[in-house]
Amino acid sequence: MEDRYQLSQINLQIRMYLLGVVFWAVLAVAKSQILQQFTQNPCVSRSTCHECIATPTCAWCYDTVNINTTKRCFQPSYPLPPLDQCDPSKIYNPDNEMIMIANAALSMRQESGSEGGTIVSGYEGSSSSSGSFSGSQSGSGYGGGAWEGGGGITQVRPQRIKLKLRARQQYSISMYYTQAEDYPVDLYYLMDLSKSMQDDKEKLSALGDHLAQTMQNMTSKFMLGFGSFVDKVVMPYVSTIPENLRSPCSGCEAPYGFRNVMTLSRDTWRFSQMVKSASVSGNLDAPEGGFDAIMQAVVCRDQIGWREKARRLLVFSTDAGFHYAGDGKLGGIVKPNDGECHLDTKGYYTMSSRQDYPSISQINTYVKKNAINVIFAVTKDKVDIYEQLRQHIEGSSCGQLSNDSSNVVDLITEQYQAISSTVEMKHNASSAVNIKFFSKCLNGNNEEVETNKCGNIKVGSLVQFRIQLEVVECPADPRDTKQLIQIYPVGLNESLIIDLTMLCDCPCEHEGLEINSPKCHSHGTFMCGICECVEPAYGPTCECNKAGTTANVSTANCINPKNGLECSGRGNCICGKCECEQRTNPEEIISGEQCECDNFSCERHKGQLCSGPTHGQCVCGVCECNEDWTGDNCACKNDTKSCLRPGTEDPTKLCSGNGECLCGECKCNANDEGFYFGRFCEHCTFKNCSDDCNKYKQCVQCQQYKTGNLTEEECQKCPFTPTSVRVVEVVDKNGEVLCPFYDEDHCRFSFVYYFDEENKLRVRAQEERECPTTVFLLGIVLGVIAAVVLLGMAVLLLWKLLTTVHDRREFAKFEKEAMMARWDTGENPIYKQATSTFKNPTYAGKS
Ligand SMILES: *[C@@H]1O[C@H](CO)[C@@H](O)[C@H](O)[C@H]1NC(C)=O
Ligand SMILES: *[C@@H]1O[C@H](CO)[C@@H](O)[C@H](O)[C@H]1NC(C)=O
Ligand SMILES: *[C@@H]1O[C@H](CO)[C@@H](O)[C@H](O)[C@H]1NC(C)=O
Ligand SMILES: *[C@@H]1O[C@H](CO)[C@@H](O)[C@H](O)[C@H]1NC(C)=O
Ligand SMILES: *[C@@H]1O[C@H](CO)[C@@H](O)[C@H](O)[C@H]1NC(C)=O
Repeated sequence: MEDRYQLSQINLQIRMYLLGVVFWAVLAVAKSQILQQFTQNPCVSRSTCHECIATPTCAWCYDTVNINTTKRCFQPSYPLPPLDQCDPSKIYNPDNEMIMIANAALSMRQESGSEGGTIVSGYEGSSSSSGSFSGSQSGSGYGGGAWEGGGGITQVRPQRIKLKLRARQQYSISMYYTQAEDYPVDLYYLMDLSKSMQDDKEKLSALGDHLAQTMQNMTSKFMLGFGSFVDKVVMPYVSTIPENLRSPCSGCEAPYGFRNVMTLSRDTWRFSQMVKSASVSGNLDAPEGGFDAIMQAVVCRDQIGWREKARRLLVFSTDAGFHYAGDGKLGGIVKPNDGECHLDTKGYYTMSSRQDYPSISQINTYVKKNAINVIFAVTKDKVDIYEQLRQHIEGSSCGQLSNDSSNVVDLITEQYQAISSTVEMKHNASSAVNIKFFSKCLNGNNEEVETNKCGNIKVGSLVQFRIQLEVVECPADPRDTKQLIQIYPVGLNESLIIDLTMLCDCPCEHEGLEINSPKCHSHGTFMCGICECVEPAYGPTCECNKAGTTANVSTANCINPKNGLECSGRGNCICGKCECEQRTNPEEIISGEQCECDNFSCERHKGQLCSGPTHGQCVCGVCECNEDWTGDNCACKNDTKSCLRPGTEDPTKLCSGNGECLCGECKCNANDEGFYFGRFCEHCTFKNCSDDCNKYKQCVQCQQYKTGNLTEEECQKCPFTPTSVRVVEVVDKNGEVLCPFYDEDHCRFSFVYYFDEENKLRVRAQEERECPTTVFLLGIVLGVIAAVVLLGMAVLLLWKLLTTVHDRREFAKFEKEAMMARWDTGENPIYKQATSTFKNPTYAGKS
């Protein structure tokens, strides 16, 4: 009965344990999810308004009336409980904002034939001036007063917007580009006029009119200009022998750096003449001073006559290499190029022998700034080097010129077509802003891809770019939060200007500040609902002073080394000390330096903490039991009487000395070789176990059966005389113990012992031993062998008998047949005659 009860008790415990494991697992998962939610919420860790605003999806509550929390940065989509009470008008959560400032319509060709721009419909965004602006301006642009530039022609839309962006949030705007019909073209022909280019010059002057006509066929607003260069008039670039300075070669004019021969003009017929009248000059070294010329041609806007809005082409034609920044030192010129225009009234470059050549990057900068497309028209052997140079100059291209420039018209028209049929978008934003361009270009049904370049553009085709802006990081300097960004198609003086304001700080950090506010213990500024403390004060309300300690040490005191949590996650670290949380139940107290202790999470027994106050108290998570009580939950009586075996007087021999008395029950010892068992740990499974059964066995043997090792005398000394019974049975109520044995003769016997009321040892033993009846083993073996032999012989005899019978029968049959056979003595049945007769079938019919 008792065993059954214990078993079911154990079963129950196992089940409770499993249930507990499942429960903890579920709790751990839930806890990790909560933690995850906290780590996913990036707002929690932001402690100031501007940090909060610089984090996407976060909003700041600067309400000071109802809220008493230090954490004011929250996600409006998941409000944390204390922020539910934040006055909605006191939440700062600015959104991205776009204001259209200029959005003039694009100049598109009209099918109806009437001149003027059309407004691209379907474009989102409002512009107050767009309608009237496009109408009047385009009209005049096509009217004829547009020679000073493409006037009202608009190829990029919108032109200006104002943007306010939160950090790390992507924002897209659309931008359109179209190639306007009859867009003005300025072509300035810059020619190397060293001696080797004589034939080129003659060819160019012959082709001048053809060039002008071809270009005029493409645009009616075409202007052409001409400039030439040799090199710096300094040794070693040019021979400075006086007569060489006058005329370095026969029929040559004096050398010069750069000369603007013909300002851009619509009188294209003058071009041929000017080219013809310009004479070649001579220099010494192979590379020429082309960079000086490019720089002047680019930056001298007025002298060259570049129009404000026109496709600007600078054709640079040479058969030699170039000098660049640093080469000036050879001639003793150390002053770097200043990128300014230095042309005198006759169009000569005045600083040629005083300033060094420009660098490639200088050229690139000014070419970009002035939206000029440089076309390098160079001879075959120089194509490689100019091809490489081209890659470092935005919007430039390179073409191969024949020895005598006979293909120059084709080259220019080809390059012009290539330039004008592609559009490449660029921007000048700083690294704080990330700008990406996406477009379908002109293949309408295709996917939008990330590209800033579209090709195959024809007059009138409309290209849409989606510009994605993202403020990557709030700049450290608040002045950098405003930026003017220019997004422009390469080689055109048209652009979209974005006035960008990064939303990186809060208005509440600038207005309504309370300096040395009493809310901050007069040690800090109260703003945006929080205190900004002045060193060395710190803490949520500047109540702490870290003079003498360091900030790290002060929080280090709060961290529970066991779990690494500040105040064990159950309190706030204030000025380096933990203030533990208050529980809703005032009976429950959290205590300890790091809030690591409490007096409510101890083991319980029947719902009572430490089995109730009479049994023990809960101290820092462990039950401290009162006297008389013991155990993890103080549920056990400290009484050990029940562990003392009856018949044992010695009170130190609890559990027979083989175990511990726990909660009134014995817990028996065990080791690898065996264990003790029984209610008092009186039995054991060890090899030479000397438990009581073994102790009494000898006496029972000698007294009851007269066997065993004890001598007569020893037998007399036995402490008991067994009563003999027929069958040994255990009577439960006496606490009797059954001892079964086999003795040396393989006989079984058993006895019980118990202590009677007077604590006297009593033994009942079996009357007779149960011995095995002796067996004649040899008999069995011989019997078996005999049986096997007999069986074998019987089988053999049977076989013999059967074969004999069979033989007899066969013999009788033979005899009978022999008698019946009467052989003809004259005829041998096996004999056949040697001759035989055949009939010839061939003679069968005739005979
Ligand atoms: C200009 O175009 C007209 C007609 O379109 C053509 O006849 C003429 O040859 C062209 N001129 C040049 C120089 O290409
Ligand atoms: C580009 O055009 C604007 C007017 O639209 C003008 O003010 C500016 O000077 C031009 N820039 C260049 C480099 O020509
Ligand atoms: C161009 O010049 C190279 C050598 O400088 C010469 O071999 C070639 O024949 C010339 N071609 C023409 C068309 O003059
Ligand atoms: C971009 O270009 C515009 C116009 O040239 C200029 O005002 C602006 O400062 C430039 N922006 C940056 C970030 O360099
Ligand atoms: C915890 O400790 C407090 C103060 O010592 C005491 O008032 C309260 O009864 C205790 N609670 C329990 C459950 O022991």
